[in-house]
Amino acid sequence: MAIEVTLGPPDAVRLALDTVHMAFGEISAEEDFAREDKVMPTDRILAAFDADFAVGAAASYPFRLTIPGGEVAAAGVTWVGVLPSHRRRGVMSAMMRAQIDDVHERGEPLAILWASESAIYGRFGYGIGAPCLALDAERGRFRLRDDPGPSGAVRLVERDEAARLFPPIYEHVRVATPGMLSRTKGWWAEYRLGDPEAWRRGAGPKFYAVLELDGAAVAYAIYRIKSNWEEGIPRGELRIAEAFATSTVGTRELWRFLFGIDLVAKVQMFALDAASALFLMVMDGRSLQLKVADGLWLRLVDVEAALQARSYADAEPVVLSVHDRFCPWNKGRFRVSDDSGRTRQSADVELDVADLASAYLGAFDFHRLADAGRARELKPRGLERASLLFRTPRPPYCPEVF
Ligand SMILES: CC(C)(COP(=O)(O)OP(=O)(O)OC[C@H]1O[C@@H](n2cnc3c(N)ncnc32)[C@H](O)[C@@H]1OP(=O)(O)O)[C@@H](O)C(=O)NCCC(=O)NCCS
Repeated sequence: MAIEVTLGPPDAVRLALDTVHMAFGEISAEEDFAREDKVMPTDRILAAFDADFAVGAAASYPFRLTIPGGEVAAAGVTWVGVLPSHRRRGVMSAMMRAQIDDVHERGEPLAILWASESAIYGRFGYGIGAPCLALDAERGRFRLRDDPGPSGAVRLVERDEAARLFPPIYEHVRVATPGMLSRTKGWWAEYRLGDPEAWRRGAGPKFYAVLELDGAAVAYAIYRIKSNWEEGIPRGELRIAEAFATSTVGTRELWRFLFGIDLVAKVQMFALDAASALFLMVMDGRSLQLKVADGLWLRLVDVEAALQARSYADAEPVVLSVHDRFCPWNKGRFRVSDDSGRTRQSADVELDVADLASAYLGAFDFHRLADAGRARELKPRGLERASLLFRTPRPPYCPEVF
């Protein structure tokens, strides 16, 4: 079987979406093509052909990702799928090769993705870049600690008003949170506020809630409700797509609202911020039933450019020796400081590019990597110095599953 991988094949959006939906055992809807035509550049779509039949697809959105001290271009890898008839013969590997090379040529230093299964992407140099928490809380046990009582007011708004009120709140959080993506108007409209039937998964429509304090919008949430009754008892689920606030009071009042909705037994969120204040705000943290998830995966496509793009804490420089089997152009030693670059100096710490990805946004420090056998100290205090240099004011978070 000769497989040929093509970048930007004819009728790319339709071809790739049909292929990836088939790979997931689903079917495309007409509205999927219309939506993606607006947000996915066709020259970022790959298809793998067996003769003239598409058997695999992959694509990447042109994102801007917040990193410590700024933001950088990041390829948002998505639509990866191979038909069941052609699996485990290297089709995905061939597409990953072509995609990383393309991203590298475009000069985008990072690639990011959400994995359908955790075991897939490590071999291509991706590491866990921004883990998150899954929330599956018992609504009935919700109580705030040292509750000063409610303030502000929540309004449910229509999509148009949400499109005006939500982006400034999101932006306030985004610029300070490594792992978040900038959003165009089109992205807001098509993705965060868009509400195709196929995304509901048995639940109702999206609701858009804004919290106002003294007349100013300071927090919002997007959620659905899945109604459920058992033996006459309401056991609904509140599924939160995202929830953001610009202040502590806003955060508290937003959670008060979300946990105050009747007929709901479980309050759920697929990707809660690992640094969410919620755990420390409630009386019964255990009732939140938080579970760690791998979240956003990150690949340093160009290690030197990626290291130069982020800022560092005020600490001694460190030299990292980086291994990268899939992208040999990255192999070598890098001096990390406010003036990072390749160096001939001997290294303090040695690690694989996938593990550097776990430190890059601030998710894991070098001691934790070393404890897991994912980094090796080559000089005394190497791990400590690298950890001090890479530390960030908060852990990374990506609320956007794409
Ligand atoms: C995941 C998927 C794309 C893999 O495609 P594929 O063409 O079979 O992958 P390859 O043959 O190139 O596999 C490359 C390597 O990854 C491994 N691998 C592939 N899929 C894997 C999985 N789901 N879990 C663990 N390892 C996996 C293969 O065993 C192979 O390892 P080897 O080189 O040591 O033999 C395909 O199974 C698929 O479409 N699955 C359903 C949709 C999906 O999950 N897509 C990913 C979206 S994030």
